[in-house]
Amino acid sequence: MAEAYKDLDPATMPRSTGLTYQDLLDQDSHAVPEVLRSESPKDMGTNEFSVTRYTTAAYHDKEVEHLWKKVWQMACREEEIPLPGDHMRYDIAGMSFIVVRTETGDIKAFPNACLHRGRMLKEHDGNAAELRCAFHGFCWKLDGSFSDIPADWDFPQVDQDNFDLPALPVAIWEGFIFINPDQNCGPFEDFIKDLAKQFERWELGSLYKAAHVAKVMPCNWKIAQEAFCEAYHVSGTHPQILRSLGDVNSQVDIWENCARVITPGGTSSPLLDYAVSNDDILRTNMDLDHDADAPEVPEGMHMRTFLAERARTNLRPAAGDLVDKYCDAEMIDSLDYTLFPNFHPWGAFNGIVYRFRPNGNDHRSAIMECIMLAPFSGERPAPAETHWLEAHESWSTALGYLGKVFDQDAFNMPRVQEGLESTYQTGVVLSGYQESKVRWLHHKLTEWIGE
Ligand code: FES
Ligand SMILES: [Fe+2]
Repeated sequence: MAEAYKDLDPATMPRSTGLTYQDLLDQDSHAVPEVLRSESPKDMGTNEFSVTRYTTAAYHDKEVEHLWKKVWQMACREEEIPLPGDHMRYDIAGMSFIVVRTETGDIKAFPNACLHRGRMLKEHDGNAAELRCAFHGFCWKLDGSFSDIPADWDFPQVDQDNFDLPALPVAIWEGFIFINPDQNCGPFEDFIKDLAKQFERWELGSLYKAAHVAKVMPCNWKIAQEAFCEAYHVSGTHPQILRSLGDVNSQVDIWENCARVITPGGTSSPLLDYAVSNDDILRTNMDLDHDADAPEVPEGMHMRTFLAERARTNLRPAAGDLVDKYCDAEMIDSLDYTLFPNFHPWGAFNGIVYRFRPNGNDHRSAIMECIMLAPFSGERPAPAETHWLEAHESWSTALGYLGKVFDQDAFNMPRVQEGLESTYQTGVVLSGYQESKVRWLHHKLTEWIGE
């Protein structure tokens, strides 16, 4: 682990007032798994990170060379290409790749470029019997092996025995397909090991892609990403949810390539200076007006237990008895994990997976995506297609209540970009604990890219 990280003692480190997350777990009605009981807070110092990381094309160019061309990155879900010939395009920072299911059911990835004069091989996702270029017809089999050059007598220099598409490293983890543009990269298993260990219990591969919403956001990709990496902003940006969210009770844990922020639901923020009734917590959690019908909470039942039981009832038809295995925290808390640099799966049934990327080579715009995974019974349902929001369309049009919260986050994003373009500060200031996932992301960038 990098020099910059030192273990902190959870018992003595500076903490917010109110219960700790571990205190809340003590009230759980079910057995709490070890994965939630573990803590890994880190002291990563107090240094600032240069504003130019967000505002300059030069830093974006460094990210392309030292990060996007080198790192393992999630390209798509395996369920999106179930049949031989199914293929998806994955684009990152001006580069395009294709991910293909072969005749034998394997998954291959190639640069999305013909070996003749370079035309993109596939501009759309779809199914094809072969990878034939639309320009002059050079053709490869689904596994990338060479198959045909029209009028091959005219290409005496091409050695057809050595004219396969360059295969890129591919790995599958819990239904997600990862690729690495670097053919000499390190093993995926080493890269993902911290995250894989955390997720053993939750088996995201057994879930299906129930929704996928994407939008181009007017800010650097890290501004969009960092808006979802701490709960410290909740009181400023989402004050309406404080009655049912323990924002400052959040627990932040840092490992090598992964980190998490766990934020408890069904408990009111310690920042509120009045007693919040169970009814208020319930209505906030369910997004109900104060005069709408709300369910009865049995006398003496803890709100977290009540909300977890509701979630169990809702999910039981699809998830079966698994809902009884999961504790209250797994049913209702935000278990928000990050695998460096940009992949954010939530644990248990929360179902959310975020991904943030630069939008082509524009360092002032980003692609933000929210994928919803869900349990199912019986045959695996078809995965949702990506629903691209136009610039004027809000997240709430696609994602309801959750989208309303995203819209508040999205409102900040271009204003953070504009502020950083105007500031007289040289660096961004980060808190020691609550924003430590953001700090970790920047330390990782320093490791990969340099200052
Ligand atoms: S560029 Fe692909 S066949 Fe010519
Ligand atoms: Fe937010």
